[in-house]
Amino acid sequence: MTQVTNESAAQKQVFLADVVQGLSQPIKKLQCKYFYDERGSQLFDQICQLDEYYLTRTEQSIMDQFAGEIADQLGIGVMLVEFGSGSSTKTQVLLRHLNQPVAYVPLDISEEHLLKTAEGLRIQFPDIEILPVVADFTKGFTLPVSKKRPSHAAVFFPGSTIGNFEPDAAKSTLTLIAELLGQDGGLLIGIDLQKDPSIIHAAYNDASGVTEQFNLNLLHRVNNELGADFDIKQFEHLANYNEQLGRIEIYVVSKCNQVVTLGEHTFTFKTNERIFTEYSHKYTIEGFAKLAADSGFVLRKHWTDENQMFAVLHLVHQPIKN
Ligand code: AVJ
Repeated sequence: MTQVTNESAAQKQVFLADVVQGLSQPIKKLQCKYFYDERGSQLFDQICQLDEYYLTRTEQSIMDQFAGEIADQLGIGVMLVEFGSGSSTKTQVLLRHLNQPVAYVPLDISEEHLLKTAEGLRIQFPDIEILPVVADFTKGFTLPVSKKRPSHAAVFFPGSTIGNFEPDAAKSTLTLIAELLGQDGGLLIGIDLQKDPSIIHAAYNDASGVTEQFNLNLLHRVNNELGADFDIKQFEHLANYNEQLGRIEIYVVSKCNQVVTLGEHTFTFKTNERIFTEYSHKYTIEGFAKLAADSGFVLRKHWTDENQMFAVLHLVHQPIKN
């Protein structure tokens, strides 16, 4: 009991320190990992249902269509580790098709949701050992030990979450995965592909304004959890596609000159001043393969939808020894 309390108090301290640090920079920023409190997760689920937001449904259709092939690629006796597992919805089709999987390790920062999902999976997949891990995958962690010995591990990193990272950070994350997996480990990763910018733009500027609510929820969270006094009506959502860098750039923009208080800190905003909240990088298959090669990954196979909107890639960790 005390541990849980201490833990969340510690988490709150980190959140506070991150917010103060981010808002104290010349170009203010808030980290996108903080989008996902309960309301933020609900809003993200709503985003996934939007007509304009093609990512989730396209990835799911690729997984549905090619589950058998993907499972065969991943091999026999695998321990499947999912990064940012959430409700594990995309995983279920994979778990049903895998060949004699030994264990499934859903990994997420949100403990309550993770444990609830794990309980459901144990009922649905009684033959697969379900070993949830509460962790921030960017910080590193060790794999749990399963009862049966896996032939190898594979990381499932769906949803184009890697797109949040700038290339250097993406490389570090891939290196971290490579180290976790060891030689011959697999990586099954979803990436959003470069395409007509107007399609991408619409996906982050939906007509019903759910993405705006999702973005502004970050300010609600800072108010609710840290006691800041952001006047949310005085801020708006901005998402632009930077074609040259192949990424969506998302900001919260101040509509006026204003001051926000957070404990003993005050932050001043000028009209049109931005808080940077998120990048969402779009790749080509070759571009991503090249990035992953720096972390010792070799692209084995990939699957895409008929319009080449999204891709699921299977890579294997095979560092070149010299
Ligand atoms: C969950 C990171 C894949 O980048 O498309 C959706 C998050 N942000 N709309 C994305 C998001 C605004 C999403 N990822």
